Amino acid sequence: AAIHLKDYAPPRWRILSVDLCFVLDPEDTRVRSRLTLVRNGQAEAPLQLNGQDLVLHHIRLDDRPLQPGDYHLEGETLTLHDLPERCELSLETGIAPAANTALEGLYVSGGNFCTQCEAEGFRRITWFLDRPDVMAVYTVRIEADKARYPVLLSNGNLTDSGDLPEGRHFAVWHDPFPKPSYLFALVAGDLVCRRDGFTTRTGREVDLRIYVQRHNLDKCDHAMRSLQASMGWDEDTFGREYDLDIYMIVAVDDFNMGAMENKGLNVFNSKYVLARPDTATDDDFVAIESVIAHEYFHNWSGNRVTCRDWFQLSLKEGLTVFRDQEFTADQSLRAVKRIQDVQRLRTLQFPEDAGPMAHPVRPQSYIEINNFYTMTVYEKGAEVVRMIQTLLGREGFRRGLDLYFDRHDGQAVTTDDFVKAMEDANARDLSRFRRWYDQAGTPLLEATGTHDPETATYRLTVRQSCLPTKGQPEKLPLHIPLVMALLDARGREIPLRLEGEDSAVAGERTLELTAPTHVFVFQDVPELPVPSLLRGFSAPVNLRFPYTDAQLAFLMAHDTDDFNRWEAGQQFALKVLQGLIEAVQAGQPLMLDARFAQAFGQVLANGALDAALVAEALTLPGEGYLAEQMAVVDVDAIHQARQFLRQALGAALGDRFRAVYEATAGAQGMDATAMGRRRLCNLCLAYLCASGEAEAVALARTHYGSADNMTDAMGALRALLDCPGEARDQALAHFEARWRDDPLVLDKWFGLQAMDAAPGALDRVRGLMSHPGFSIRNPNRVRAVLGTFAMANPVHFHALDGSGHGLITDSVLELDALNPQIAARLVTSLSRWRRFDEERQGSMRRCLERIVAHPGLSRDVYEVASRSLDG
Ligand code: ARG
Ligand code: ZN
Repeated sequence: AAIHLKDYAPPRWRILSVDLCFVLDPEDTRVRSRLTLVRNGQAEAPLQLNGQDLVLHHIRLDDRPLQPGDYHLEGETLTLHDLPERCELSLETGIAPAANTALEGLYVSGGNFCTQCEAEGFRRITWFLDRPDVMAVYTVRIEADKARYPVLLSNGNLTDSGDLPEGRHFAVWHDPFPKPSYLFALVAGDLVCRRDGFTTRTGREVDLRIYVQRHNLDKCDHAMRSLQASMGWDEDTFGREYDLDIYMIVAVDDFNMGAMENKGLNVFNSKYVLARPDTATDDDFVAIESVIAHEYFHNWSGNRVTCRDWFQLSLKEGLTVFRDQEFTADQSLRAVKRIQDVQRLRTLQFPEDAGPMAHPVRPQSYIEINNFYTMTVYEKGAEVVRMIQTLLGREGFRRGLDLYFDRHDGQAVTTDDFVKAMEDANARDLSRFRRWYDQAGTPLLEATGTHDPETATYRLTVRQSCLPTKGQPEKLPLHIPLVMALLDARGREIPLRLEGEDSAVAGERTLELTAPTHVFVFQDVPELPVPSLLRGFSAPVNLRFPYTDAQLAFLMAHDTDDFNRWEAGQQFALKVLQGLIEAVQAGQPLMLDARFAQAFGQVLANGALDAALVAEALTLPGEGYLAEQMAVVDVDAIHQARQFLRQALGAALGDRFRAVYEATAGAQGMDATAMGRRRLCNLCLAYLCASGEAEAVALARTHYGSADNMTDAMGALRALLDCPGEARDQALAHFEARWRDDPLVLDKWFGLQAMDAAPGALDRVRGLMSHPGFSIRNPNRVRAVLGTFAMANPVHFHALDGSGHGLITDSVLELDALNPQIAARLVTSLSRWRRFDEERQGSMRRCLERIVAHPGLSRDVYEVASRSLDG
């Protein structure tokens, strides 16, 4: 049964306040709730509460016990008729947190209690109007055994606590801010906390606490510093200040997603909290900083102003991702951050938008909302917000955001309300721009340029189009900001004057596309320029411009936009790789393109560039991105072509790689500069190892042996992955022995082997699944082994005999009975079956059919599998 945006209706009842009392027990927790209800609107309407897997023990209306005939309990709905306009409903429900393997609602992780209520987990705790437009004030009392659960936490401020008979104790928390149920949180357990503070710009002293298991207390410093930096940044950048006296973060090992922004009590996947330089890579440090920031920023973009319904999810997620991206850009190198975000968008969101799960940033319907926490809602949603900033300018965007928060503080609103605030604060019309929220699919921009020496003009023609997606056969033109410049033969930006304008403006400009085709005629352009288009990736589109190899090499060396310099290299590499793929398919010998190798070598030798930027420039497009560019995906040819190019570049430029390796090795510290040097150093090592020389293997062995941080240790292991032999086996065995008791570190070891393209991958993955450190109940383990195999080992996942598909299908069905959310994520790896050759199509289709036919399938998996089959 699908739910549709067009069917939205306001709630017929409101809940003014909620009193909850939890008597905690892993097998039978009692939840007593007292709801103060008022009718919303005139019509006589029954009260219909949501509940799932609950045992109803008592129910009272205004202190009068109700009998089974007084209410109606059917499926996941509890209905009460003929209620007075205002009343109090008291319920006692029983739940079994230890048996909750779905990790939604109240569950047990590592012996401690925790919750995950977004999107619809609260209904697994008690009967409620579990929808985001019902906001209430919560008071929560928690009672538990004091020795086993010394720490008792919920949202807001602690108002009371004390001991109870029989070794038990209690705590009472009150959250003064009305909130939707999805922001409720409770944590109880044997935890310790790292404390610090933050003083807001108006002088509020905020108590900051990060709760972890005792043995992890020495891994909280980075998370704490990240939290403090986020709080300062949101004040400085967007004028947003924190609003409670306490902010708590709890790290748990079993968590479906990254983290959750519950008011005043964030619950995090421990992967995004715990870090020490010897246990976490530089990328982990950056990811932790960004997730901490993301959840903190939600306090305004999500909690103070929330979503009316789940179709509006991108209202808070797209905006908050945009905010965390900007934060990270300010903490490090902006261009590097932009490059990484675009890579992520292209390799994960573009395929989603081109496949059977394609949906608009604001979906129109869903069966299971958990399936819509997607790259489209999050990352494309962030791109849509970024385009608004590009169109309005930074100041205009800030004005719009201020108006949005002023206008809607304490409300549950829509993406339309957001755009309206942006329009009103800037006197702009964004009506055509709104289509970005409703149209699925990645637009294509086809640009061409012609130069006329007679008139000294340059005509730039840009055509936009978008392929149909399911349910949207006809696409309307979008409002697209195209940031561009024209470069002269020396790489300088030509001042730009369009036909009809009086004077030329130096530097780049933003062209606004609103129609299917535009022609821009630039004046006073004496010679053929090289256009630098879509600078900074100013819109989430595919751009085609018929550049020659020479022009791409020129842009790689001279474009004044850092992002586009990188992009030129990627486009050049893509052309070269496409040629190699064709050669593999035709059985021809593979050859290294000399011009490409030269351009590549020049970047490597360019001492003026930041190391992190060099490393990005020298990273070849991934196999997934290459697959996207093919009419029929050929995983083997892609892998062979890319491996050949890595090997050939490693061999041709070996001396330079070696020199840069030596120059960057041994970087100390955790600042962006040191991280950039480590990245480049490990990249050089990987190319050297790809060349297959014995010396390189010895170098990697030394690199591993002398690594005093996880980035270098992993860099060495990754490089060795290409070099079967003793060095590799020894390093992997050493790593396992060293880290077998640290699950987050062991996940890295699982992941490395799951992505290993050497023969025998299937047996290796089976072996990992029976490793003592593996558990199908833990989402991080499942992602490390099965997720990595399905997403990052295409050659073996798509093995012609169907064995890879079969393994994932078996795992999906096993997982579905435990954790449907995680199972559904894994099914997406099969969804693009139509992109492959006939044999693989057949194998994937049969797997999807096997899944859909499985008795007792969850809604989550059913939705993804069935959409994939008919999409
Ligand atoms: N709101 C969280 C975040 O973006 C994501 C939680 C979603 N969880 C879920 N089970 N759907 O930070
Ligand atoms: Zn979020």
